[in-house]
Amino acid sequence: MASTQGLQAYEEEKLLLSLPKERGWAAHHLYLFQDFWCPSNFIEGVNNFQKHFQSKDSDVIVSSFPKSGTTWLKALTFSIVNRKRFSSFDNHPLLTSNSHDLVPYLDFIFHCDNIQNKLSYLSNMTEPRIFGTHIPFPSLSKSIQESNCKIVYICRNPFDTFVSFWIFANKIYPDSLDKLTMEEALEKYCKGIIGFGPTWEHMLGYWKESIATPNKVLFLKYEELKEDINFYVKRVAEFLDCPFTEEEESNGVIESISNLCSFEKMKNLEVNKSGTFDRSFEKKYLFRKGEIGDWVNYFSPAMIEKLSKTMEEKLSGSGLSF
Ligand code: A3P
Repeated sequence: MASTQGLQAYEEEKLLLSLPKERGWAAHHLYLFQDFWCPSNFIEGVNNFQKHFQSKDSDVIVSSFPKSGTTWLKALTFSIVNRKRFSSFDNHPLLTSNSHDLVPYLDFIFHCDNIQNKLSYLSNMTEPRIFGTHIPFPSLSKSIQESNCKIVYICRNPFDTFVSFWIFANKIYPDSLDKLTMEEALEKYCKGIIGFGPTWEHMLGYWKESIATPNKVLFLKYEELKEDINFYVKRVAEFLDCPFTEEEESNGVIESISNLCSFEKMKNLEVNKSGTFDRSFEKKYLFRKGEIGDWVNYFSPAMIEKLSKTMEEKLSGSGLSF
């Protein structure tokens, strides 16, 4: 066993040495791994996930670029898919558990030594299994791409994603930002250098797939969910082949799910106000303002010009806009 682990560590070290490396915004270095900037603490998990994860046709994958609304979409998906099991919204798992605890990250599950234990845990999970991931579409395991599982993806206006990411990184790594200014961080962001970036490549990977295989990938925008959440709760349920019945609709189940997962409700739950994650940051940092357009309070005219130009360049002709 020790020699298997030793070999694994050696191979990982060899892999890391072969990859382009950049200073990230925070505590971890970023490695250019399969065309995306992977934080050093994720490489092992992503590598193992790609090698070992076996998708089931009934799986649901909640995918996102970090700080785009992952916590929200995990909560919505969990409550939509499990609404028969958990039909009481006064006694719901989301009232006592954070959505990241109910919908684990595939990128993190395999960050471990005992892969066999993980695999047997995964094969015994209640179905449909729901997982989260920040991995770009082309780097998902073949098994996800080839099975009939469904992927729900959320993205957000990069202006707001950048601000949300910047403030989050400052909160969780207050001492290790290496004196990076916001302007310098934006420079890196525009070059694509951010965990799981480039942001545009991430979005475009899922965007193109949602057009090519609309039954496989549902592409959502944070802003659209904010504008009409009930519509999108219904849309996600239809996409996941569990549409609401007329009776559910008239009983207000859609509105109950929207309310349960709303920013105000989740932010004020005791379970989300205190305590930390296994990744050791405080859960309260997942809930900040939950607004559209907060970036105007942080961007200088030069920063606006820089990011607007980059987005125009990277997204033009794709049909994707914000
Ligand atoms: P802000 O920093 O702009 O407030 P992620 O979950 O991918 O880490 O994204 C975090 C962003 O989503 C944060 O944005 C956070 O406040 C917001 N958010 C968290 N829960 C939310 C919810 N239930 N509804 C809407 N936005 C939410």
